Amino acid sequence: MIFAANLKCNHTRASFKIYAEILNKTIGVKCDDIIVFPPSVAFLEKENNFIQGAQNFYPCVNGAFTGELGKEHLDEFGIKCVLIGHSERRALGDEEFIKAKFDFAKEHGYKIVFCIGEDLKLKNSNQTLDFLKKQLEVIDLDYKNLIIAYEPIYSIGSGVSAKKEDIAKVLEFVSSLTQAPLLYGGSVNGDNIKDILNIKHCSGVLVGSAALKAENFIKLIKG
Ligand code: 13P
Repeated sequence: MIFAANLKCNHTRASFKIYAEILNKTIGVKCDDIIVFPPSVAFLEKENNFIQGAQNFYPCVNGAFTGELGKEHLDEFGIKCVLIGHSERRALGDEEFIKAKFDFAKEHGYKIVFCIGEDLKLKNSNQTLDFLKKQLEVIDLDYKNLIIAYEPIYSIGSGVSAKKEDIAKVLEFVSSLTQAPLLYGGSVNGDNIKDILNIKHCSGVLVGSAALKAENFIKLIKG
């Protein structure tokens, strides 16, 4: 199972250092199935027992892109894993930009956690699968370093995960399109994680709020 934590705009350099220390100690040995996305100002240079990923980047090595983060900056921290298409970022860019990011990350061999997810309006009008198919059309579903995270927007940060049967339906559909491991994200917590991990085709979780404390993330990992 893959356990990924998206810390979003939480944690400072100082607090993430402690977070990583706790996680490193508990994990003990290098584990490629635990991924943490800290804010970029908190990236750690040292080797960790988990994979450190970038929540965002600009599809360039470096250049005149004010305020952005290029490959050169990720390289400095040994970062080889990126999150693309999170709904909180999709709101700021278009599909073409997401494709440019994906193509750049693929070209450079990054592990890509690619997020998809519909809002409540689409869900209620039975357009979920059509919508998700479109979101997946812009990427190479055969890319070997791809992980797909299904994160229904209505569930993110709400405290209530999507219904098991709705997750199952989506994962079944996505698994018919790709061999990539499939994660679920959206209000995953200690109460629902077991049920979610038991859903067919579910290879793990992408956790936000419930992973903000290292101890809580560890509890989710340990099950
Ligand atoms: P929550 O777990 O806080 O709902 O966030 C999920 C998420 O957006 C992870 O990327």
